[in-house]
Amino acid sequence: MTMPTVLLTGVSSLPGYQTAIHLLRLGYQVVGIYFKNKIRLDHQNFKLKKADITNPGLITKLVKKIQPEVIVHMAALGNVDLCETEKKLAWRTNTLASAHLARLASRYSPQFLYLSTDFVFPGKDGNYRELDPPNPINYYGLSKLGGEIATLSSNTTWAVVRASSIYGFGPGRKNFAKFLVERLSQGLKVGALVDQYTTPTQASLLAKAVCEIIERKLCGFFHVVGERMSRYEFAIKVASTLGFDRSLIQKAYVKDMKWVAKRPIDSSLNCERTRKLLKTKFYSSSIAFRVLKEEYQAVIKTPKAN
Ligand SMILES: NC(=O)c1ccc[n+]([C@@H]2O[C@H](COP(=O)([O-])OP(=O)(O)OC[C@H]3O[C@@H](n4cnc5c(N)ncnc54)[C@H](OP(=O)(O)O)[C@@H]3O)[C@@H](O)[C@H]2O)c1
Repeated sequence: MTMPTVLLTGVSSLPGYQTAIHLLRLGYQVVGIYFKNKIRLDHQNFKLKKADITNPGLITKLVKKIQPEVIVHMAALGNVDLCETEKKLAWRTNTLASAHLARLASRYSPQFLYLSTDFVFPGKDGNYRELDPPNPINYYGLSKLGGEIATLSSNTTWAVVRASSIYGFGPGRKNFAKFLVERLSQGLKVGALVDQYTTPTQASLLAKAVCEIIERKLCGFFHVVGERMSRYEFAIKVASTLGFDRSLIQKAYVKDMKWVAKRPIDSSLNCERTRKLLKTKFYSSSIAFRVLKEEYQAVIKTPKAN
């Protein structure tokens, strides 16, 4: 029996790459789309394609040809400040391309899963639940919310999976854990915010949850996150777990940041409902950092892959 085919956009991002690996482990055929950053993933059931998701003609051809049972859409313009200065590009990439993919899924693919963000919420009070009303304060959040609306409007078994400060090792933009390791391993100081809170999502946990949602054909909104903490608390935990000098981590404050786009102060997500629904075990923070340590040790052994 041939396993279903998943078309996965954003395979060259950390969550995309981890999701591809977990899907392949489960026996799925995966077609992964990258844009500017080619990745290497050797597996007999994996095909890598280069495509620009903002080119509707090209994407239509691809989906028609592959007719995947599932589309997992993780590609986006993820740089929050760039989204603020390049609004048209952000809208085209995060909203219009998602709407086009959701329309194609309605015709050719019974299941559509969209990776979204805590930044769809205003980020004043935190602890946002899956069905709380979104109200983004920056253009990245707004353009991702456009993608959410397109997803739930599709005629598919759809899922909007929200994550927050995704971290781990693998391809994609530098995430905070990777940045910390890079600096701390060289004995360099790092500033970390004490007054901004998120619920950091370990990429490998996200990939497991995404796979379960696909396997069980679940529909709706999901929050896949870890425990709420400040960037400073996160940095201290990373340093302690990986054996770096904690005194290199210095307290920083939101008021001193030179961001272009506004940032939520507390965009932490409440994941109680999702945890109850899924069998995937969400990590407590002690397990999450133990897993990070194992991943870090694997990176040290094979640095090129990460
Ligand atoms: N970073 C976080 O903490 C966080 C939190 C919540 C949700 N997310 C979501 O996670 C996903 C990955 O983002 P990221 O933050 O990890 O950033 P990232 O590393 O920059 O990943 C962005 C991905 O989108 C692809 N992409 C961008 N423009 C494209 C285009 N025009 N055509 C095809 N592919 C395109 C990139 O491909 P190339 O690299 O090959 O160009 C890359 O695979 C996004 O959906 C983002 O909203 C991220």
